[in-house]
Amino acid sequence: MNDTAPRISGETYFFRDHGQFDLLRLRLLPLLIERRRSARTLRLWSAGCASGEEAYSLAMLVDMLLPERDGWDILILGSDINQTALEKARRGRYGQWSFRMAAPTLQQHYFRRKGDEWALEEHIRRMVTFRAGDLIGEPFPNGEWQDMDLILCRNVFIYFAADAVTAVANKLAAALSEGGYLMTGHTELIGHRAQGLQSRLFAEGVVYQRVAPIPTEIPLVARIAPPPPAVAQRAPCAPLPATPSGEELLTTARKFADRAEYDRAEQICRQALAIAPLAAGPHFLLAQLAQLRGDFERAGELLDKTLYLDPRHVAAYLEQAALCERAENLPRAQTLRRAALEIVRALPGDAVIEPYETSAAEMAQWLAQ
Ligand SMILES: C[S@@+](CC[C@H](N)C(=O)[O-])C[C@H]1O[C@@H](n2cnc3c(N)ncnc32)[C@H](O)[C@@H]1O
Repeated sequence: MNDTAPRISGETYFFRDHGQFDLLRLRLLPLLIERRRSARTLRLWSAGCASGEEAYSLAMLVDMLLPERDGWDILILGSDINQTALEKARRGRYGQWSFRMAAPTLQQHYFRRKGDEWALEEHIRRMVTFRAGDLIGEPFPNGEWQDMDLILCRNVFIYFAADAVTAVANKLAAALSEGGYLMTGHTELIGHRAQGLQSRLFAEGVVYQRVAPIPTEIPLVARIAPPPPAVAQRAPCAPLPATPSGEELLTTARKFADRAEYDRAEQICRQALAIAPLAAGPHFLLAQLAQLRGDFERAGELLDKTLYLDPRHVAAYLEQAALCERAENLPRAQTLRRAALEIVRALPGDAVIEPYETSAAEMAQWLAQ
């Protein structure tokens, strides 16, 4: 462990990045809770948690999504290299600036005013365990730092050299349980390949999912891939055939979107639509891209179009429901989720719901709550 505070910014605040926290609240955490309902365990890690706001934001989400958790074994781990930041985290007291992106109702609900500061409710404070450690130097996965359902490591890779980014991404991948998710800052892993991680594109951004068992003993040298080429020289997504079909174009557009090359993805999507104007897939991807740009009105129009072209498009119902929820149109959100549930229930349990890579059975359980 390293006791010295690095001279880097520990800038953080509650619910930093609304899109990512919507993704956690509306999709990832409900899915993980459902997946773990019979085992009754949940393991979440805020790696590079600074003064604790991110780890406590996770604790608040768990409190909202799983209010009855007697008998559950829940670990919410916050780790950082900076001891001073961790001491502040353990105190659980914050100034108003830490709430600049948090809903006032949430602040009122989970904090008590103490002079100039806000003290976190004791039952939320106790949900989080803080540990000191250097993500580069620690030989994890081991001890507490393994078998995670979800790891947030956001705005931390930006401080690492390229080889350290890949090495830490590999260690974090190995510290995930199969099917677990890694969320980073939006473009932090672009150009780096981590073993066993596959990117999943959601409207709110990209997350990485652990898809295959990783050998436990990966020699450190093998973990460190050669430095990634500069962005301009990066290997292109598989070259397109001379006259690509609409489907081929859509696949390529998705790959660009997964790599956060959104403009290119959009351009290829439009080419796909020029070939097959009535295809639902490109409309859906364009809707996701519009959401990523923050153009929710356009996203809604594109999702309506997707559903007009393919009335059984589960993901389009769910994205539209998420948009309605964001706009506080809860009745419409519920109607849309019910429609998705009906479709999902009619599918074989092991059918895969794209693009979430979730089985119909798992999704039906989640939607039926
Ligand atoms: C900008 S803050 C990010 C806080 C939080 N994840 C967020 O996004 O709001 C970066 C944190 O990474 C921590 N950090 C930097 N290098 C680290 C390392 N090698 N191991 C663990 N933590 C590290 C810093 O101490 C700092 O608290």
